[in-house]
Amino acid sequence: GCGGVASFSNKAVVSSFGIAFDIDGVILRGTTPIGNSRRALRRLYDDSGAMNIPFLFLTNGGGIPESRRASELSDILGVKILASQVVQGHSPFRTLLKRYENEFIVATGKGEPAVVMSEYGFKRVISLEEYASQFKNIDPVAQYKRWTTEQELNCSRNSEKIASSHIDCSQKVKAAFVVSDPVDWGRDIQVLCDILTSGGVPEEENGQQPPLYFAADDLQYQAAFPSERLGMGAFRIALESVFNRIHDKPLEYTSFGKPNPFVFSNAEMILRQLLQFPTPGNVGTEDVRLPSFKTLYMIGDNPLVDVKGAQQAGYPWFSILTRTGVFRQRENHTQYPADMVNLMILYSLFLLLFTVV
Ligand code: G3P
Ligand code: MG
Repeated sequence: GCGGVASFSNKAVVSSFGIAFDIDGVILRGTTPIGNSRRALRRLYDDSGAMNIPFLFLTNGGGIPESRRASELSDILGVKILASQVVQGHSPFRTLLKRYENEFIVATGKGEPAVVMSEYGFKRVISLEEYASQFKNIDPVAQYKRWTTEQELNCSRNSEKIASSHIDCSQKVKAAFVVSDPVDWGRDIQVLCDILTSGGVPEEENGQQPPLYFAADDLQYQAAFPSERLGMGAFRIALESVFNRIHDKPLEYTSFGKPNPFVFSNAEMILRQLLQFPTPGNVGTEDVRLPSFKTLYMIGDNPLVDVKGAQQAGYPWFSILTRTGVFRQRENHTQYPADMVNLMILYSLFLLLFTVV
């Protein structure tokens, strides 16, 4: 049904809708809030600071654990974001825990991919960077790479090392995970090709390709630069093209993140839990029927990812396309038209839609 009326915080606040915010190109550009997104988010809380309207962030980005992303977002946006309100591209990798919990796996991407995976519970994960460093001359141009400051490198490498200190790299890699946007495409393409064409042991001959998982497949996304930047989908095309030229069997892979429908059903479940149990710690009580929503708004900037995803997910999703990121046209997108195109900044949109808040 679509009852959606729930007792929320101390005063009985009625909410029949929830909101999923895309991050890049809607809430932030790089680390800078877009327009009045801070003010818009504050409207989702009452005077006592309790959440009025259940909302979460549904991003294809990532590279750090959800708990850390939540505190980063809290600092940038000036509201207290819970870890459960942050769904990143790689968040569904958790569902692969049963299969790989004790298997040797590699993880790559910006930030701390191995730390992300160990937080999910994977016990034998190593970052591709750490893995590559165990093979002499695997990257023939490594000595020319001086673009990372020592400090940055040490910082992220130390925690990655701790996550993988006990791992023996001569064993077979059982799966590779692209957790966030790769930093060193050249090295990653080389080393992933080594792992994937060999069957998991770079110095050996052909074996069956280990499974490869991407957190998302965004061709482009909006960062701090004025025009879009190449995303994980662009990296996937680069890797796939090279792999298919040097290997006789085409690359096999799975992409998670938006626009996959399961991402939206998972978001709906989290929003329902937030509506029922606004404070952390209460989530997951089994015998209570969770409330449902009349409308769930997906506010995104990418028609092919955010709007397509909400459309495929169907009821009760309603897509709103902003013009602050990847999408800039005047008219609605032709292939994946949003239910609404927002010509204004987020805050004005809120005044228009949610005057009840
Ligand atoms: O790297 C992040 C990008 O692929 C998309 O982020 O927040 O727009 O889904 P977002
Ligand atoms: Mg976006």
